[in-house]
Amino acid sequence: MQRNSAAEAATPKIQLLGASRDFEARGRRVQALQPIDLSVKKAEFVALVGPSGCGKSTILNMVAGLLGPTQGRVAYDGQPIAGLNRKVGYMTQKDTLLPWRDVASNIGVALELKCRPMPRADAATKVAQMIELVGLKGFEHHYPSELSGGMRKRVALARTLIYEPETLLMDEPFAALDAQLRLVMLDQLQFLTRLRKMTVLFVTHDLGEAITLADRVVVMSARPGRIRAIRNVPIQRPLDVFKARFSPEFASLHEALWDELKDEVTKGTDL
Ligand SMILES: Nc1ncnc2c1ncn2[C@@H]1O[C@H](COP(=O)(O)OP(=O)(O)O)[C@@H](O)[C@H]1O
Ligand SMILES: [Mg+2]
Repeated sequence: MQRNSAAEAATPKIQLLGASRDFEARGRRVQALQPIDLSVKKAEFVALVGPSGCGKSTILNMVAGLLGPTQGRVAYDGQPIAGLNRKVGYMTQKDTLLPWRDVASNIGVALELKCRPMPRADAATKVAQMIELVGLKGFEHHYPSELSGGMRKRVALARTLIYEPETLLMDEPFAALDAQLRLVMLDQLQFLTRLRKMTVLFVTHDLGEAITLADRVVVMSARPGRIRAIRNVPIQRPLDVFKARFSPEFASLHEALWDELKDEVTKGTDL
């Protein structure tokens, strides 16, 4: 029994083994991702950075089970992913709020869909907690069309977190937020993911965001994407998201990551 749990702990949560992906577009075959090897341990926070079009969203889509790899394998808990991966909460790049539902009922939709629906009063309490957490108190009955881009993102975040998934896939979740609110959200996310020992794969354009949150930062090359470098973040956690960026370790890691990334960004064919 004990041996089983030790084996379980040693099995990566997420594993890409020589996983590549091609797309057929306008009659042409395009390689989006070269074969990639990447393992994410349970409760690890990994950030993916890289130029537009290098395959970051494709990686998340494969882990979510929305896309299969063209070659290689993508596994979750050591098993190949077949069909939708229900162990993950996925906050996609485009928010997919339901326009006919208000903020509270967009956030609560996951509880209605869950296999074991929860009593209404409990669901309402959870929704209220999430609304508070993402700073949307007072907007419960607003519809998506009445919200700013940043507010819509916060609704999408609350909707993903309320499900309490063991793994979070997040695709540039805070890109539309202003700088101060972004820091508040980073702080909340750090707190929640540590508290719930979540595994996180987080795509961002912002190196500061990656260093603030991640145990490891993966730098990808321009399309067709491959892993150019992986850096550990040697900063003691939990950290003060408001101050950490002024420390010398933070600055030197930021510089090292930028050195890896800058050539790739200028190579990016989408620029
Ligand atoms: N469904 C699709 N059909 C055709 N091409 C696609 C599709 N999805 C992604 N691609 C292409 O694959 C490459 C990687 O896309 P994506 O993973 O979205 O990149 P990123 O998230 O890093 O910006 C891009 O060149 C994109 O145009
Ligand atoms: Mg993307």
